[in-house]
Parts: sequence; structure tokens; C-alpha cells
Amino acid sequence: MMKRLQETCIIILWFLIHCILSSISLSSSSSPSCNKGPKLELPYMTSDVNEVEGKSFDYIIVGGGACGCPLAATLSEKFSVLVIERGDTPYSNPTILERTKFGYPLVETNKYTSAAQEFISLDGVLNYRGRVLGGSTAINSGFYSRASDPFIKKMGWDEEMVKQAYEWVESKVVFAPEMLSPWQSVVLDGLLEAGVLPFNGYTLEHVQGTKLSGTIFDVSGRRHTAADLLGGGNPKNIVVLLNATVSKIFFHPDSGDQPRAKGVKFIKSEDDNKKSYKVYLKKPENSTLPVGEVILTAGALSSPQILMLSGIGPSNHLENFNISVVSNLKSVGDKMQDNPAISLLVDSKPKSRVPDTPQVTGIAEDYKVILESIIVPVSKNLTRVSIAGKLAFPASTGKLELKNKDPRENPLVQFNYLSRDEDMEFCVKIHQLVEEVSMSMAVSVYLGNERNRLEKLGKEESKEYCKKNVSTFYHYHGGCIIGEVVDKDYNVNGVKGLRVMDGSTLVESPGTNPMGTLMMLGRYQGLKIVQERTQSSSRS
Ligand SMILES: Cc1cc2nc3c(=O)[nH]c(=O)nc-3n(C[C@H](O)[C@H](O)[C@H](O)COP(=O)(O)OP(=O)(O)OC[C@H]3O[C@@H](n4cnc5c(N)ncnc54)[C@H](O)[C@@H]3O)c2cc1C
Ligand SMILES: *[C@@H]1O[C@H](CO)[C@@H](O)[C@H](O)[C@H]1NC(C)=O
Ligand SMILES: *[C@@H]1O[C@H](CO)[C@@H](O)[C@H](O)[C@H]1NC(C)=O
Ligand SMILES: *[C@@H]1O[C@H](CO)[C@@H](O)[C@H](O)[C@H]1NC(C)=O
Ligand SMILES: *[C@@H]1O[C@H](CO)[C@@H](O)[C@H](O)[C@H]1NC(C)=O
Ligand SMILES: *[C@@H]1O[C@H](CO)[C@@H](O)[C@H](O)[C@H]1NC(C)=O
Repeated sequence: MMKRLQETCIIILWFLIHCILSSISLSSSSSPSCNKGPKLELPYMTSDVNEVEGKSFDYIIVGGGACGCPLAATLSEKFSVLVIERGDTPYSNPTILERTKFGYPLVETNKYTSAAQEFISLDGVLNYRGRVLGGSTAINSGFYSRASDPFIKKMGWDEEMVKQAYEWVESKVVFAPEMLSPWQSVVLDGLLEAGVLPFNGYTLEHVQGTKLSGTIFDVSGRRHTAADLLGGGNPKNIVVLLNATVSKIFFHPDSGDQPRAKGVKFIKSEDDNKKSYKVYLKKPENSTLPVGEVILTAGALSSPQILMLSGIGPSNHLENFNISVVSNLKSVGDKMQDNPAISLLVDSKPKSRVPDTPQVTGIAEDYKVILESIIVPVSKNLTRVSIAGKLAFPASTGKLELKNKDPRENPLVQFNYLSRDEDMEFCVKIHQLVEEVSMSMAVSVYLGNERNRLEKLGKEESKEYCKKNVSTFYHYHGGCIIGEVVDKDYNVNGVKGLRVMDGSTLVESPGTNPMGTLMMLGRYQGLKIVQERTQSSSRS
């Protein structure tokens, strides 16, 4: 009797909190626009290799993803830019564009052409990466957050310029969730019940507690990928080559002390004959050497892979594949990391619910744990409800190596999830926190008898669970670490005219979900390059 009463009280309290929250939560300020802004003007796009072969550009951007698109847009304000993307356009694909179809690209993969490419790390964990203009922002959960101030400071970035770069991105592709989906408001209550406090309402900042954040889905549920950012510069100065996979960068044979990038080779993504085509960096008048650059923005798996295929990497490894060594850069492929995730399925069985993306997050344990929830397809017509937590700063690191010389195939990657004791210790904590949210009154009431009967596990059992069921939050990074493979301006060490700028350069993921910071990085570094070059040309 007493117990019944208690439960009823809790439920009433829950409804009360719920009502109060939904009335205050979305009224707060911050920048993102709710309207759709001016009409998007996109650059010229083609998949006809003959339109590009043999031509020259000031900048060749390899990979049109989270970092590549804003970078290309920014450089186009002053220079000619070619973006080479191995995948197709996102603009004709409803499973990419509609929030209600979130997750379907991941269950509809094939080897060479699907928008999502599957990979299984040597750890045995299933994972995905984007293969479409917009990169992984075209297949991801769309959750947007800025990095914390300590992260920005640690990177040594100019705080004012970073803020402006975030705002530039946000004005184009980031939206406040006008209304929480029914499931997200349940998750919000579950997080508060589990003691992930305080409640910070809506904010794009990475702050401890529970908050609502931005999303790249607008109020009508349409996804805005990084490809939309291509319209933010001078689109007339950009050519986008689609369905073309870059196989290597080639260098000037005689350019002084260090090899200088001359251009790139690419193949048609679908072509098994691997006939290759070339495109060049533009040379200024009266000079034999280009001043432009090749910039790899192909993501954490492809950027180290392309460097190795071009002869930049550990020489003994390259020699195994008969790749002639341009620069014996031993740390290419090092320090691969994927934030380990623990996810609990809180519904009792698969059902045809509408997929749901995260709008709410819990930031707990001194920023070390991030909690989010999605409703995700497991087949063409069935979904599961999952609540998950990730370890924000794992200590375990792994390695990336070539499997073969085909640039379309995944390299071999091992993350060594939870191999360090401290990561395992934390995994147990994460498991327990996810359990608490999953067993909260809010979740129980909402799912009713469709709720998975979860049993609270002891510490040892949690450990077992971590070992068997560790999964990914898809925030893998590393392979071209800043300070080792690239310098602080993202120039590849040991060669000229070549940079890498994407998730592969991160030593740690920016605590929160990384997409926002990677889009910001493209804008920020693009501005720095434009400034640098206009200053040096006005000096001479
Ligand atoms: C399923 C999933 C869910 C996620 N959810 C979120 C989320 O909610 N919030 C968040 O912040 N982050 C999320 N992420 C992570 C985020 O999307 C990535 O961290 C981010 O997109 C990485 O940016 P990038 O520029 O390094 O690479 P990408 O965005 O992956 O871009 C790389 C591009 O290079 C292209 N490319 C690769 N190789 C070649 C080649 N040889 N030639 C030509 N082109 C090439 C690829 O096709 C791709 O377009 C998620 C990721 C996934 C996979
Ligand atoms: C790119 O390739 C896909 C399939 O491989 C094809 O359906 C699509 O039409 C191509 N895109 C362009 C712009 O040619
Ligand atoms: C290139 O050289 C030619 C002939 O010497 C000269 O007329 C021209 O001004 C030079 N151009 C530049 C940009 O220096
Ligand atoms: C490398 O070249 C040698 C000698 O030509 C050949 O025997 C070997 O199979 C080649 N290895 C690869 C991986 O292509
Ligand atoms: C889901 O798809 C499978 C195979 O495509 C089909 O057999 C099944 O009936 C479908 N289920 C529902 C609920 O639509
Ligand atoms: C956890 O792993 C075990 C063993 O591999 C498996 O049977 C179980 O279904 C997994 N649980 C979840 C929720 O994925």
C-alpha cells in the first residue's frame, strides 16, 4: 500500500517536472536560426571525370565531409577549389534528408556505393562512416554541440575566431529543437531522475548536467549536412567531383629539400579496372612550383590510408606493399581511438517505431561520461530503443594499417577498447549510469509493458557486460595526430603543399560529439590560410 502511494507520488511529480520543463526549456536564447535562411546556392557538381582530368586548381580538397566542406567554401572566397568526393550527392536521398528516416542508411549498405560504408575493427565492433557529400554528417544522429572552453584552450586556438567560426556554421546548418520528441522528453526526465544535474535548458555550450542541444535537422525534420556549407563562400570558385575516389597524392621530383605536392590521382568509385586520372595544383605565372595545396579531409580512416598509399608513413609497412617511400613518417596510423560506448536496449523487442535522434544529453562524472538516446532501425522496417553512454576521454589507443592498395576498401583498424584498466573501471560506472536512466520511472511509465525487464548488475557482471558488449558512439579519431603527423597549422611534416584537417588529427574527441568542432575547424583553418596568403602576397 505504502509502496503504491509512493509510486503514484513519483509519477505525479514526474508529470509536474515534465510540464514545467517543456514550458521553459525551449525559450532560452543562443544563436541558431529557426528559419531556413536564404536560398542555398551550391557549387557546380559533376561525376564526369573528363570534365576535371588534367585541369589545375589552387586547392584540391580530398573528401567533402564535416571538415572539407566548410574549408572548401572558405578558400573559395579567394581561390579556385576542387573538392573530390568518393560518394554521391546527399540532395536526392530521402534516407539522408528526413529525420524520420534516420538510421536507415546504416542498414542499407553495400560494398562500394552506399551512403554509409560499414567497417568492423579488428576488435570485432561494427562501425560506420559516411561515403557521400557531407561525409558522416549525412548519416549521423545530427546532435550538435560546441566543444568546452578547456578544449579550445588546450588546442591553442584563438577563442574569438573560434566563436565566430562556430557562429558561421550554426547560422547555416544548426537548429534549436523547436519541440522535443515524446521519447526525448522521457529521456530528459530519466536523466534528471538518475541525478545528472543541474538541468541547463537549451545551450550549445558543453556544460555539466542535462541539457538540450542543437541539431542539424530543421523544424520540418530536414537534415542539413556539411554540404550545405559549400554555399557559404563563393560557389562559382568551387567544382565538386562526385563518385571519384582519390588513390594517391603525387609529388614534384625536384623541389629542393622536401617533396612538394603536385596533384592527385583518382579513380571512378565504381570502376573495378581502376583506370586512374590526374588533376594538378595550379602554378603561378613564371614559376615551376605550385603555391596551392592538397588538403586531405577524408576522415579518420581515409586520411592516414591515403598518406600511406602516397608513400608517407612507416617505411617498413609501406615496403610490404611495394609502395615507394616519399617520407618515412612513422606515426601515420598511430593513436587511433574510439570512445567506448555502452548501450542498453530498453524496449522488449523490435517494433516499427519512428526513428528518433538525440536532442537531449547528460554530461556526468566531471565531463567524463556522455549519455544520449536514440530510436534506431535494426532492419528495413524495425527499430529498437537504445540508451547509451560514452567514455569521453579513453586512455586506450590503437593503430591503423593498410589491408591492401585499394583506396575504396577499409584499412585495418584496431581501437583496443577498454584495454587500459582505467577505461574498464569507467565502463562499469557508465554501465551503472545507463542502467539508472533505463530503469527510471519516466522510461518505465512511457514504455509500460513494452519495457525490457532489465536487472541491475553487480560490479563484476557490469565488467563482463563491458567486455562483451562494448560498442561505438561513432566518434573515432586519430591516425594523423597533430604534433606528430601534422604541425599546429595542419601541414604534413616532411613534405610541402600538403595538409590534413579532419577527425584524424584529434588526439582526443572534443569531449562532446565532434561534428560541430570539425565543421568549425574547416572554417577556422580556412580563414587562417586565406589571411596568411593575402598577407604574404601583399608583402612581396
Ligand atoms: C552513425 C554516426 C552517428 C554520429 N552521430 C553524431 C552526432 O550525433 N553528433 C556529432 O557531433 N557527431 C556524430 N558522429 C560523428 C561525426 O559525424 C564525425 O565525427 C564527423 O563527421 C567526422 O568528420 P570528418 O571531416 O573527419 O570526416 P567525414 O565527415 O566522415 O568526411 C570524410 C569524407 O571524405 C570522403 N572520402 C574518404 N575517402 C576518400 C577518398 N579516398 N577519396 C575521396 N573522398 C574520400 C568520405 O566519403 C567523406 O565524405 C556520428 C558518426 C556516425 C558514423
Ligand atoms: C554516383 O554513383 C551512384 C551509384 O554508384 C549513382 O546512382 C549516381 O547517379 C552517381 N552520381 C552522379 C552525380 O553521377
Ligand atoms: C613573367 O615573366 C614575363 C616575361 O619575363 C613578364 O613579362 C611577366 O611580367 C612575369 N609575370 C609575373 C607575374 O611575374
Ligand atoms: C612486391 O614486389 C615483389 C617483387 O616484385 C613481389 O614478389 C611481391 O609479391 C610484391 N608484393 C606486393 C604486396 O605487391
Ligand atoms: C518487415 O520486412 C520483412 C521483410 O522485408 C517482412 O517480412 C515483414 O512482414 C515486415 N514487417 C512489418 C511489420 O512491416
Ligand atoms: C551482449 O552480448 C551478449 C554476448 O555476446 C549478447 O548475447 C547480448 O545480446 C548482448 N546484449 C546487447 C544488449 O547487445
